[in-house]
Amino acid sequence: MGKRIRVGIIGVGNCFAGLVQGIEYYRRNSGSPIIGVMHEDIGGYRIFDIDFVSAFDVAENKIGRRLDEAIYQPPNCVDWLPEVPMINAIVREAPILDGVGVYVEKMIKPVKQTKTPEELRKEIIKELNDTGTEMLINYLPVGSEKAVRYWSNIALEANVGLINCMPVFIASDKQWVSKFEKRGLPVIGDDIKGQVGATILNRVLAKLCDDRGTVIDQMYQINVGGNTDFANMIERSRLASKKISKTEAVQSQLRQRLGEDRIYVGPSDFLPFLGNTKICYINIKGRMFADRSFEIECKLTVDDKSNSAGIAVDAIRCLKLAFDRGVGGVLTSPSAYLMKHPPIQYSDAEAKILMEKFIAGEIER
Ligand SMILES: NC(=O)c1ccc[n+]([C@@H]2O[C@H](COP(=O)([O-])OP(=O)(O)OC[C@H]3O[C@@H](n4cnc5c(N)ncnc54)[C@H](O)[C@@H]3O)[C@@H](O)[C@H]2O)c1
Repeated sequence: MGKRIRVGIIGVGNCFAGLVQGIEYYRRNSGSPIIGVMHEDIGGYRIFDIDFVSAFDVAENKIGRRLDEAIYQPPNCVDWLPEVPMINAIVREAPILDGVGVYVEKMIKPVKQTKTPEELRKEIIKELNDTGTEMLINYLPVGSEKAVRYWSNIALEANVGLINCMPVFIASDKQWVSKFEKRGLPVIGDDIKGQVGATILNRVLAKLCDDRGTVIDQMYQINVGGNTDFANMIERSRLASKKISKTEAVQSQLRQRLGEDRIYVGPSDFLPFLGNTKICYINIKGRMFADRSFEIECKLTVDDKSNSAGIAVDAIRCLKLAFDRGVGGVLTSPSAYLMKHPPIQYSDAEAKILMEKFIAGEIER
């Protein structure tokens, strides 16, 4: 057996359920091409070299369960496979802090906590050490500002790397990055960018209009879905950083920013019957030669969890490469290619070239 990657999970929700079931899907269909990963082999690591060794959540029905069972607990709704093989890790209790919003509380049923965050901190660090966790993946709900800071400090203290899949800014925040750099721990973030999701589609369309010299007068991207992620995001006060992340991802592709009153990019509503299907509408209105107007209207219907899981397996393998190479701090190229709100934004084509160079070891980060 080759080298393994030992991963811990913060938030055993739908994204993680998709990640586990997707990897198992390819194990069962060995020989079929793995769609949506950068390479089947990244620096000697295949998607099958990932082990999930620790996990943390606040849901009553997930804590204490083996990970392969916990991913099927409601309100999780990824059902690509009826079951996955045993995973030898038990979901442990995390502090709730600001993790659970008002609209998801009834769906998640958080555990009644008897320990303080400080007491749990000691147990969590012990669990990370005992299980040999090398990196944590953060899948906390949007708006969990305090919880993300708590977990970023845990990563620093327990000496593990961090992949931040959601929009509380760590990898794109200079102060946090310097803390990880000082500890020699790699970070990728923030806010995972789907394989062909609303963000990348909107970025490419906006850049196309910009590159072809049109003037964009107004643009919107609205998104609806039916899982807990979308239920959580109807609580508008939790959305500030999500809107920044999504809007900046698009604005960064324009030579001249659109006025704030001319652009809307964000999660929009919760339609329970959609489950993990996400529907995105993009509309761009602008002008071309002789001030003649044009309009682009585009609809994307996609499995939101399939969209993120392939990206996550590449992030995990890139973080492992950084460990192998002794590189700490933020990995700017993988972050630009894989995340919506990286510390440095590039076009997606440039980011792909940089990512290849990182994998090949031609650039440090
Ligand atoms: N395509 C995508 O799926 C995509 C893209 C970009 C970002 N994201 C982000 O990834 C994150 C995860 O998405 P998801 O669909 O898995 O969400 P989810 O609601 O299915 O899962 C969140 C999990 O976190 C747990 N949780 C809540 N508070 C917690 C706490 N304080 N500590 C530990 N666990 C806690 C919940 O019980 C749940 O199991 C979200 O922030 C989402 O916006 C997803």
